[in-house]
Amino acid sequence: MLAKDCKRKVILTGDRPTGKLHLGHFVGSLQRRVELQNSGQFDEINILVADDQALTDNWDNPKKVRDNIIEVTLDYLSAGIDPDKSFICIQSGIPALHALTFYYMNLVTTQRLSRNPTVKSEMLMRGFNGSESEDDNVAGLPAGFFTYPVSQTADITAFKATTVPAGEDQMPMIEQAREIAHRFNTIYKCDVLVEPDILIPENAAQRRLPGIDGKAKMSKSLGNGIFLSDDAATVKKKVMSMYTDPTHINVADPGHVEGNMVFTYLDAFLRDDSQFADYLPDYKNLEEMKEHYQRGGLGDMKCKKFLLKVMEDLLQPIRENRAKWETNINDVYDILKAGTDHAVQVTNQTLHECRDAMRINYFDDKDAMVKSWESWLNESHTKN
Ligand code: TRP
Repeated sequence: MLAKDCKRKVILTGDRPTGKLHLGHFVGSLQRRVELQNSGQFDEINILVADDQALTDNWDNPKKVRDNIIEVTLDYLSAGIDPDKSFICIQSGIPALHALTFYYMNLVTTQRLSRNPTVKSEMLMRGFNGSESEDDNVAGLPAGFFTYPVSQTADITAFKATTVPAGEDQMPMIEQAREIAHRFNTIYKCDVLVEPDILIPENAAQRRLPGIDGKAKMSKSLGNGIFLSDDAATVKKKVMSMYTDPTHINVADPGHVEGNMVFTYLDAFLRDDSQFADYLPDYKNLEEMKEHYQRGGLGDMKCKKFLLKVMEDLLQPIRENRAKWETNINDVYDILKAGTDHAVQVTNQTLHECRDAMRINYFDDKDAMVKSWESWLNESHTKN
């Protein structure tokens, strides 16, 4: 490996195109990607629209996946992913990922895969309980779904990613990728694959953003999300209906900020204290505001109005960007095409290096096949 290659800092991350991205995606990962992109510290940034992975639990609805490729790409671009600085690519257009997945399958046991906590909880949510049944609500466990962490390992290692900015729920995937990369390099005595690091948000509210109902993680299927593409009226309605503190009945009552979505969202989305000066000059910072709420005398409506201003500071520019990209959908298509072409080159190179390490590039390496066979033949003759 060249010394230069050792120092290359590469990002690979991605999302399943199964729906529009919401604020949980934004604070959990997308915002960080944009910051890292603009930091100039990375030699290469690739964002993967993981349509093949999306098919592992949507095999009966490829149209949903297809339509959401554009939808998710619009979310990326409007949130600040810059096609001059980052590549956006489509997983199914990158054949080396499939080939690598097949080799990596041998380096992991089914026992190891069944310990993955993210896959376990996703299986539960989808009713894949692992036993075949006549009952339509209890489905067997599809092999493709069960093994998607192996395919995700291929995504990450094919780009030789050093860094994966992603949500907390992706930690087991990165752990799996590190193990497989390490095993590959050990077994085939090479240093082709890079063991990646995950980057998760530092702020707890950003790591696991609850839905506006306060019940669970924000998710499209639970209907408790605010989407990057929501219009201003929808965002207002959602913020006004947010779960706060059921014991805070009168304005004068002392209130709780823990488990109160308005304060959780302020923790996650407040950009800086200047937003107080602009919209709520009664307080200098969030601490002061929280203290007043806890003491009593600060009403939910006032808090929600402030949160709405903070949300709109974030969402309005994203909305404007989206409107521009939506009228240039052919450009979006070209960006995906260029990103995928680039990905094909990079990942084919890694696949080639992996096959070299395994000495199975038969038609580039005649010796690996013919000479190896000849010496094997000689050996077996001398033994007899
Ligand atoms: N599993 C990720 C999700 O659920 C999507 C994904 C696919 C991904 N390949 C990846 C994330 C590689 C990070 C790196 O959204």
